[in-house]
Amino acid sequence: MTTDYPDMQAETVENFTPQKVTLTVNQKPVELEVLPWVSLLDGLRDYAGLTGTKKGCDHGQCGACTVLCDGERILSCLTLAVMNDGSEITTIEGIAQEGELHPLQKAFIEHDAFQCGYCTPGQICSAIGMLNEGKAKSREEVKELMSGNLCRCGANTNIIDAIMEVKNQLAHE
Ligand code: FES
Ligand code: FES
Repeated sequence: MTTDYPDMQAETVENFTPQKVTLTVNQKPVELEVLPWVSLLDGLRDYAGLTGTKKGCDHGQCGACTVLCDGERILSCLTLAVMNDGSEITTIEGIAQEGELHPLQKAFIEHDAFQCGYCTPGQICSAIGMLNEGKAKSREEVKELMSGNLCRCGANTNIIDAIMEVKNQLAHE
């Protein structure tokens, strides 16, 4: 395939130099050197080697890339790594603590809430963010607030069951 302005593209790319981005990822300092158009998702996967965060659509439509940024769930394919300089990121690799699975991870296993598992890291990070937000009062509201995380295997009912179990546990603490 040819482009309309190949020389212009080459020149434009050469004008950019990699930039340093300092993050805290899963409580550890991480320094990346990335070109300005590298997404946070690609920064985590391709530069930091944290491939637990999945790339589904790369266009903000599936939720597979969800991570926590300063405690809030975000789509890492829709934000540039350089825009997150100084941020605290949590990926699925940082959810278990000291070898102990997070209650949501346990609930996903108990409720058989995955088949291929591709959406699971995003589902779990999104569910943690959603529960932190404290907006969902009912199962229907949980479904609505998790609707940005698609599961192509059709495990949705079990995913919501797992999240509801943890939500109910938290309500009784
Ligand atoms: S990969 Fe980010 S929303 Fe699909
Ligand atoms: S478990 Fe396969 S996409 Fe959700």
